[in-house]
Amino acid sequence: MSGVLITFEGVEGSGKTTQMRRLGRWLRAEGHRVECTREPDGTRLGLAVRRLFERPGVRPEPLVEVFLFMAARHQHVAEKVRPWLARGRVVLSDRYADATVAYQGYGRGIDPDLIRELNVRATGGVLPDLTLLFDVDPAEGFRRIGARRRDHFEREALAFHRRVRRGYLEILRAEPKRVRLVRAAEPPAVVAAEVRALVEDFLRGA
Ligand SMILES: Nc1ncnc2c1ncn2[C@@H]1O[C@H](COP(=O)(O)OP(=O)(O)OP(=O)(O)O)[C@@H](O)[C@H]1O
Ligand SMILES: [Mg+2]
Repeated sequence: MSGVLITFEGVEGSGKTTQMRRLGRWLRAEGHRVECTREPDGTRLGLAVRRLFERPGVRPEPLVEVFLFMAARHQHVAEKVRPWLARGRVVLSDRYADATVAYQGYGRGIDPDLIRELNVRATGGVLPDLTLLFDVDPAEGFRRIGARRRDHFEREALAFHRRVRRGYLEILRAEPKRVRLVRAAEPPAVVAAEVRALVEDFLRGA
């Protein structure tokens, strides 16, 4: 496969979507062929999975959350990520495999190594070439989101989101070459410059 996969990770409101759009525009202006996607709802099946979480009375067990996200991920890789990479695209994904390690692993207490193994199976080994970890205190993330209607995960207590943040930092510690920290508490333009520098650096070496 000749393309590259860059993933955007971090707690709610850390600026993933904002910065992915900005980076996409910048990369295109630089002449790259870019595709933007997201998890879990990058496919129709994944969208159905996301909506399942919002149905009243649906309370998936932690391991069921893992299986549902893995199902969405497998479909996402098959339908979109793998074909794009085969065509040499720069693929940007708003959340991907690390999110399940952070949320269901560190957040909900499922063995992170089991999730890593399932990620390898679900993606057929299509793992990110570069992961940008948007690190910010979840309380700040929620301040940014404000009164927006909260989803299944956003309704969780702050303590859960702090475990997720720590989980992401563990992932960074384990794979410092692939995962790069972005200081997401900075103003958007500062964050964007940091993201560009990291991506330029990565593409030069790729
Ligand atoms: N660096 C920043 N400083 C202040 N506000 C920001 C910053 N980056 C993004 N925002 C604002 O914070 C809100 C959340 O940003 P964004 O949607 O990009 O975060 P996200 O990580 O994608 O969140 P979610 O996990 O909920 O999808 C938006 O209103 C956005 O305009
Ligand atoms: Mg977002």
